[in-house]
Order: sequence, then C-alpha cells, then structure tokens
Amino acid sequence: MNDTNTYILGIESSCDDTAAAVIHNGVVLANVVATQKIHEEYGGVVPELASRAHQKNIVPVVSQALRRANIDKNQLSAIAFTRGPGLMGSLLVGTSFSKSLAMGLDIPLIAVNHMQAHILAHFIKAEDQTAPNFPFLALTISGGHTQIVKVTSYFEMEVIGQTIDDAVGEAFDKSAKILGLPYPGGPLIDTYAQQGNPKAFRFTKPKVKPMDFSFSGLKTAVLYFVEKQVDLNPDFISENIEDVCASLQHTIVEYLMDKLKNAVKATGIKEIAIGGGVSANSGIRKALKDAEQKYGWKTHIPNFEYCTDNAAMIAIVGELKYKQGIFNTQEIAANARMKL
Ligand code: KG4
Ligand code: ZN
Repeated sequence: MNDTNTYILGIESSCDDTAAAVIHNGVVLANVVATQKIHEEYGGVVPELASRAHQKNIVPVVSQALRRANIDKNQLSAIAFTRGPGLMGSLLVGTSFSKSLAMGLDIPLIAVNHMQAHILAHFIKAEDQTAPNFPFLALTISGGHTQIVKVTSYFEMEVIGQTIDDAVGEAFDKSAKILGLPYPGGPLIDTYAQQGNPKAFRFTKPKVKPMDFSFSGLKTAVLYFVEKQVDLNPDFISENIEDVCASLQHTIVEYLMDKLKNAVKATGIKEIAIGGGVSANSGIRKALKDAEQKYGWKTHIPNFEYCTDNAAMIAIVGELKYKQGIFNTQEIAANARMKL
C-alpha cells in the first residue's frame, strides 16, 4: 500500500476526448488524447456519436499510452478511470473498459471525479509547474464547468461558487457560433481577440451572487448585438470580428477575475490554481499573472496539455488515492452527475 514505485494507468472518457496516460511517481510517462473530430460538423458534442467513437478509440489509445511509457500492462499497479461527471454513454465506455482490465490484470481499480482531477492536475510533476500549497482556491473553467473550489487537502474540497446556467466555455463557443465561427470557437475568439480593441464594444456582466456565475445572458446579449449591427451593415461581422472578440473576451476575463477577487475576500486565501480548457485563454492567463503583482496573489497555471481534458490528471488522482489505499470494487458504476 505504501509502495512508491507505482505505475498507474489513467483513462478519461467523460466527453469527446478518449484519453489514456501512465504516471510513475508523479511524473507523466505517456499522455495520449484522441480528440473526436466528428462533432465539428454538428457545432457541438453529439452524445451518441461520442460513445461510439470512444468504443473505437479506447483500445488503440491505451495501447499507445503503454507503448510510449515503454512498459508492459503487467507492470501496472492500478487502473484509474473517470467515473463522472460527464455524458453517461461516454463514461460507460471508460468505466466498463477499466473494470474489465483491472479484473483481467488482478490489480486495484480507482474511480476518479473528473472535476477533482482538473484541480489535482497541479500535482503532476512537470517543468514550469509548481504545486499549490493548501489551502488554495481552484477556478475550474471549461466547456462543461465553471466553479470556484476551496481546496483544503487532496480530497477535501468545497464548491464555494459556480455557474447557475451555462459554463464559461459555452459562452465562448456559443458566441463564436453567432459570429459564424466553427466549433469549438473558444480558441478562435482568443486568436481574434489578440488583434482587436477590448474597449470597442460593451457587454453587460450578468449579476448573480458574489461568487456565482451566469453566462446565458451574455450569449443572448451577443446575439442581439450582432443581429442589430448586421441589420445596419451586412458586413459588420467580417469588418469587426477582432474588436467584437476582444471586447467579449475582455468582459469574460474581467467577470472571472471579479468573482475570484470576491472569493479571495471571502476566504482570505490568496493562492489560486486554474484548470479546464478555458485556462488556455491568453486573456485569463495574463490577468492571473498580473494579479501576482497587483494583489499579491500566488497563481498556478498548468501546462496546456493538463488544462484540457486529459488522462494524466486522472492518473495523478489514481496515484494519490493508491498511496492512501483508496480503491473501488467491481460494483462501482459511472455517475453522470457526480458531485465534488
Ligand atoms: O476542458 P475542456 O477540454 O473540455 C471540457 O471539459 O469542456 O474544455 C473545452 C472548452 C471549450 O469550450 C473550448 O472552446 C474552450 O475550452 N477553450 C478556450 C480556449 N481553448 C479552449 N476558450 C477560450 N480561449 C481559449 N484559448
Ligand atoms: Zn473537463
């Protein structure tokens, strides 16, 4: 149980990425992600297509992870997998595969909460990455989630703020769709934003409780604004895309920072770690770096490959649980609405 020489295989299949990783004493030996392209045509993730693609990808992705890690499956100490939250059909593929593999190899099975993994990804040992000190605040921002979590220890976490409707990634992706950009539009908004004027247009920040978020109103505001401008000038989008993206990104980043400031004030904790796909955004990365000087915060921004959905974050949670002897039996089932 106190074995420190562990090889943990992590498997992630909660949404539209099929991923497998091998971790050895906190160091990632392999981190393989097969991103499903099929959803681009539909402008969003189609659950049924996602589970079918997971079924197709999971065996090759796991084999590739073991090959890259240069280990044999018989050397594995345990299998860690995403139990939830996520799309049920997608979770079922990873869950059943992991249960069978653990049973076949006769090694422990470890269920992992995807949201906890986004936070604990900060404990992966990597260059340019420093582990946060407890207690810290985690801002998890992605296409499926927007939360501020108070993290007291590896497995003691409290959600102190969250979105009451859409996730921040959806605000990026849905606004991008209104602007005629392909899915997922978040990275494209970021690219255009870097060439535009963030003060060109104003979007109102939705009002909710100090540490909570709301993004559905912002998407509607973008829709009405664009419709009105296009009525006046049919070429409005192509002529102003950089400024619209810069203004929108500026509003979203300022909103996220406002909420973090409220959380720091409420908890007295000034150490902040971010995670989730939207932490790749250049605006939020810069705002957090600036906050170190401006407000005396200590901020942690993970390497890009550990921000978006990946299995290395599942494997590190697996390793932390393995060291504490926290295992699951074959009775464990996927949980689409799993809470932190
Ligand atoms: O964590 P993730 O890979 O999957 C989910 O669990 O949702 O996050 C994907 C989300 C998408 O909404 C995508 O548009 C957004 O992260 N995203 C970005 C950027 N890169 C990815 N949003 C804004 N700026 C970016 N640079
Ligand atoms: Zn995620």
